[in-house]
Amino acid sequence: MKFSKSQSYSLLAAMVVVASATSAHRVRVQPFGPELAHQEYHAPTSISTAGFATDKSFFTGSASNPQKVATDFVEQHLTSSQYIVKNTYTSKHNGVTHVYLRQLIDGLEVVNGDINVNVDKNGNVISYGDSFYKGQRTESLSIKDWIQKESENILEKGRQLNFGRRRRGNAHDQELFLAPEAKATISPQDAVLSFARFLNVEIVRPEDMDITTTYSLNSDKAEVVLTNCPLTANGKVPINQAYIQTENGALELVYDFQVEMKDTDNWFHAQVNAKTGKVMQVIDWVADATFNVYPMGVNDPEDGDRKMVVNPEDKLASPLGWNRQAQNKNFTTTIGNNVYAGENRRNGNDWQNNPKPEGKLSKDGDLIFDFKIDFEKDPSTYVDAAITNLFYWNNQIHDVFYHYGFDEPAGNFQENNLGRGGLSGDAVIANAQDGSGYNNANFATPPDGQRGQMRMYVWDITEIPRDGDLESGIIIHEYAHGISTRLTGGPANSGCLAWGEAGGMGEGWGDFFATMFRQNETHNYHSEFEMATYAAGGRGIRRFPYSTSLQTNPETFKIMDGQAYWGVHAKGEVWAEMLFEVYQNLHLRLPFTDDWYTRDKTDYANTLVLQLVVDGLKLQPCMPSFIQARDAIIQAEKLLTNGRYHCDIWKGFAKRGLGLKARVIGANAPFGGLRFESFALPSTCE
Ligand SMILES: *[C@@H]1O[C@H](CO)[C@@H](O)[C@H](O)[C@H]1NC(C)=O
Ligand SMILES: *[C@@H]1O[C@H](CO)[C@@H](O)[C@H](O)[C@H]1NC(C)=O
Ligand SMILES: [Zn+2]
Repeated sequence: MKFSKSQSYSLLAAMVVVASATSAHRVRVQPFGPELAHQEYHAPTSISTAGFATDKSFFTGSASNPQKVATDFVEQHLTSSQYIVKNTYTSKHNGVTHVYLRQLIDGLEVVNGDINVNVDKNGNVISYGDSFYKGQRTESLSIKDWIQKESENILEKGRQLNFGRRRRGNAHDQELFLAPEAKATISPQDAVLSFARFLNVEIVRPEDMDITTTYSLNSDKAEVVLTNCPLTANGKVPINQAYIQTENGALELVYDFQVEMKDTDNWFHAQVNAKTGKVMQVIDWVADATFNVYPMGVNDPEDGDRKMVVNPEDKLASPLGWNRQAQNKNFTTTIGNNVYAGENRRNGNDWQNNPKPEGKLSKDGDLIFDFKIDFEKDPSTYVDAAITNLFYWNNQIHDVFYHYGFDEPAGNFQENNLGRGGLSGDAVIANAQDGSGYNNANFATPPDGQRGQMRMYVWDITEIPRDGDLESGIIIHEYAHGISTRLTGGPANSGCLAWGEAGGMGEGWGDFFATMFRQNETHNYHSEFEMATYAAGGRGIRRFPYSTSLQTNPETFKIMDGQAYWGVHAKGEVWAEMLFEVYQNLHLRLPFTDDWYTRDKTDYANTLVLQLVVDGLKLQPCMPSFIQARDAIIQAEKLLTNGRYHCDIWKGFAKRGLGLKARVIGANAPFGGLRFESFALPSTCE
């Protein structure tokens, strides 16, 4: 069935978003999915109370082929299951190779069956995470039963599908989705309809949705795409069949699809039960932020003046400069290899058409982006200056993090990867003064090879609205979502920080990076930092400032059991606070440097902590808990500085309740979870 543009437009206009939302631009869906009791992460620090000296490796193979070491280890010790290698890359500075596997059953991916294996430069497996399906129920604690029941209540409430079949796929289409073991009983269209109902979005004419299948010459897998779906701008929804593990340890057949919502800022990756239509798991690649952040150094309008910065690009990270994508692809606007920055006040989906300021050519042929700001006027009057700032910061973050290992093989955001590995075609699309909302910002992170999208909003809390684009901290927090999502679970997996403690840390890394880039020479152990003072008009938006004082900031691990901490932003505060304590401990022993590119990253507290945190992202498993992420950072330190700062790190975490004996049940459940905090240190640190 074919439809003209105007017809499909009326379909879209008829789509009703009923979901309650304070602002209409986003469907408020708490991402969720099964909490897997058997997900585990093994790092030496998690099993050794005697400290790092007793660390063992889990397996040793040939250093010349670390991927084979990883797969040999997995096959000999962990599983006989089939799998595919999703990503492998080596971090240059510490020689660790990160290998990410996805389980295959009956040739279908198990969407929450992941193994990550970390192999050091000598061919030793030094840590690994494992959530593969083991084919048996895990034994249950009574407390776990309770938590599970609670979680089901919460999930079911208001979400139970009133599922009725609207249309059957034709017989031929159905065949494409037959798994060897289990037959799908609903059509892909039904699955998408079911998902739309889950969102409280009505698809008025579901019968218009069709299936397009593309067969390729030398692949067994047909590419199946739902077309004429009114949820997305181009009507397309790519669909796969897959398996998912449930909380009960069962394996269910699902339709797996991605929906980049047309009328809202959401970009969902969802799994719908192929037999019952029940929505099993929802991940939103768009991470929301209810904060604004302090700018780095003097780059906040209230903190200091703007400066003309000459040739700020880093030659290693951006060898072509910030305004070129290839030898003969030069730009004179805010476009380059790392980011397309433009204005989107009209809230369009055609980002290519977003207006961008034109740089002026100097006598020497240099581009100059120099635009005026009048703070007495509406932000719309200085959008060019805002875009320039947004462009500058996106590039700056790209370049700095490149030096800490967020490079092409690790899945960074670049239009052209210059032959240095990873997938090209994914520069960040950064929208200044985006028209889809106020008093916020967000970042969508699809897998490597697909563009990340940053939306920055105007804030209208103050009498004269302010522009989040002028607060580097907001930009840093948002970009950090891209970094943490790409680095956790490998570049191809964007579903590893979706909710619970994992999602909370996704927010926390953003606050932490934003806070770190505000550090300067004069700050000390007692300095305190709030988030969101400029854009929100002087008041920070987090509960407490980041501070080493337990009076100023009383947050510890256990506080997350409370309902006020069920959301990811609140959990993020706790994680950022813990990392801040770690930094402050390192800073008691090491100086600060404002040269973030220094070669001697281990000689300075701020560069060391940034390196360890980035390394931790790569080492930790998919859907990490706080405890697992802590262990990954502790291992990162051992690899880089051989335990010299082992106890400084432990002390930071232990002070906030994430000490040696901390435990959690339900870390990534959509409700609070149950935590046992610990202020204990390894005996070597006492
Ligand atoms: C692009 O810029 C580079 C460096 O300035 C220059 O060498 C190259 O000739 C330019 N290409 C075009 C098509 O102008
Ligand atoms: C460091 O930042 C603080 C604001 O947090 C500022 O008052 C101070 O002047 C800065 N010091 C330097 C050396 O830049
Ligand atoms: Zn966020």
